[in-house]
Amino acid sequence: MERKDAPILGIESSCDETAAAILAPGGQILAELVFSQIADHAAFGGVVPEIAARAHLSALDAMVKDALRQARVGFSDLAAIAATAGPGLIGGLLVGTGYAKGAALAAGVPYLAINHLEAHALTARLPSLGAGPVEFPYLLLLLSGGHSQCVAVEGVGRYRLLGATLDDAVGEAFDKTAKLLGLPYPGGPALETLAREGNAKAVPLPRPLLRREGCDFSFSGLKTAIAQLLAAVPPGALPRARAADIAASFQAAVTDILGDRLDHALAMLPDARAVVVAGGVAANQAIRARLAEVAGQAGKRLVAPPLRLCTDNAVMVAWAGIEHLRQGDLSSLDAPCKPRWPLESL
Ligand code: KG4
Ligand code: ZN
Repeated sequence: MERKDAPILGIESSCDETAAAILAPGGQILAELVFSQIADHAAFGGVVPEIAARAHLSALDAMVKDALRQARVGFSDLAAIAATAGPGLIGGLLVGTGYAKGAALAAGVPYLAINHLEAHALTARLPSLGAGPVEFPYLLLLLSGGHSQCVAVEGVGRYRLLGATLDDAVGEAFDKTAKLLGLPYPGGPALETLAREGNAKAVPLPRPLLRREGCDFSFSGLKTAIAQLLAAVPPGALPRARAADIAASFQAAVTDILGDRLDHALAMLPDARAVVVAGGVAANQAIRARLAEVAGQAGKRLVAPPLRLCTDNAVMVAWAGIEHLRQGDLSSLDAPCKPRWPLESL
């Protein structure tokens, strides 16, 4: 097979999803597998790094071979092997990049070290999404468990940070609030489900940084307000209706904050061709709807990948690999893993 027509393998293992995907050079998805470790971590109420690393190690090889079988290719047919090299948990990163480097070396194909945040950032450009071409520059709202950022995406590898969280990431705020409400891990989806039963106006909550200059975020005050609200409630004594009201009020506060910050971010990047949301929290329907409304008021379209591509996956890693390959970028086999790897440092 000609290398330029060859597919690319992507591997994701930076947190608690083990994923492998194979994409044709045009971005068509040939295989897409995700194994969520949620069950392994649920008892601990959060991701345990050592458990995550071991789970990646036990799942990855079979998963990659399955993906290759589905796509009907072998390692040596690939144009490149791309793996998330950071930011993330070091154990998982070492498992994924170590596997990718070993396979690349053995098969004689190039290796690509991919930044996880960049992979989220570029997902909206995947042609098979059918969102139409998303051209640079665009405004990215990265809303995940570890990051909350407004980024001007000016090109592949060209990112300018406009604003970021001063404390907790938005997904972290969802997870911590969900935990306070006694919801199972991961909290975001569970909180969204419970919020549907509640009254969003029932509990007055702060909206930190609302209408402040710039587009930084702050969520820790919101979480503290809820912790104080619940401090007087004995464990297990919170009625479901009250929990639902708190969940709905929390989600409304976050939605207001994100809408306001997007409004400010758009003023900071007036030539944005679109607004793109990425990261697990972009799966939240109430948040998506508000962001679409604010973007629409500014005459911009909101591009939100389908839910399965908002949360961690390997399609985004393979796609970021394709974008880099098109630019002729390759990584050396001694490229390190970087547990901390800010987007704007690329
Ligand atoms: O991007 P992601 O899969 O992982 C990283 O952090 O990189 O994001 C996971 C985060 C978790 O905090 C999770 O609770 C949150 O996204 N999340 C949600 C929803 N689905 C996932 N938060 C709010 N509403 C949701 N529907
Ligand atoms: Zn992520």
